[in-house]
Amino acid sequence: MRKAWISPDKTHRFWFHRKTATIGRQSQAIAFIIKRMQSLILLLAGSFQPSGNIPHDAANFLGMHHLPQIIQHSAGVAAEAARLAARFGVDGRQAETAAWLHDISAVIPTSQRLESARGLGIAVLPEEAACPMILHQKLSAVLAADLFSVTDPAVLSAIACHTTLKPGASPLDMLVFIADKLAWDQPGEPPYLSQLQAGLAVSLQKAAAAFLMHLWEQRAHLPVWHPWTEAACRDLVGLE
Ligand SMILES: [Fe+2]
Ligand SMILES: [Fe+2]
Repeated sequence: MRKAWISPDKTHRFWFHRKTATIGRQSQAIAFIIKRMQSLILLLAGSFQPSGNIPHDAANFLGMHHLPQIIQHSAGVAAEAARLAARFGVDGRQAETAAWLHDISAVIPTSQRLESARGLGIAVLPEEAACPMILHQKLSAVLAADLFSVTDPAVLSAIACHTTLKPGASPLDMLVFIADKLAWDQPGEPPYLSQLQAGLAVSLQKAAAAFLMHLWEQRAHLPVWHPWTEAACRDLVGLE
């Protein structure tokens, strides 16, 4: 039990925690962010009631937001993730959960992603402010936690770096990154497919490095060059 009261200058909220008999302080700015965060999450949730079955819940939520193409893509990524998990000895449940939720923030239009990320208290890099589409990886991790009750930090990490990867990536991070690229949703074959498959013949690291190499070669033509991708390239490909 705790009772809150506002400072006379209205800049801070104080509270007393009865059980631990401690007095805390929360700035009004933080309280405002939390209030905004709750309203955005509630707005997105609408009448959504998760059952605990992630594939079912993800498809249901995306369906409520009229995004059948994202359901189809997520199902494809989950199928690839399950295959890769069995092949490389990664936990299949973690892989499928991350895959089903990796693009769940598609429910937030690109034009609203920067404001939404700031409202949710997400740290936004300059490259992400310049190209808010990339923020969907971090936004998806927040929605996975707040709407789908995902608490596993390994799953949230894989969701949050599925577009850019990051330095020190775990096998699960790399697996979801690769599964997303294998589940190509454009006509024809992806231009990097043979490199990716050659990498997969060796390891997840080699496959991730193959796709990073593809990105490195394309970097002058990309909307922005994300610092996590740059760092992952140095980490896995050894580029300087
Ligand atoms: Fe994505
Ligand atoms: Fe995706």
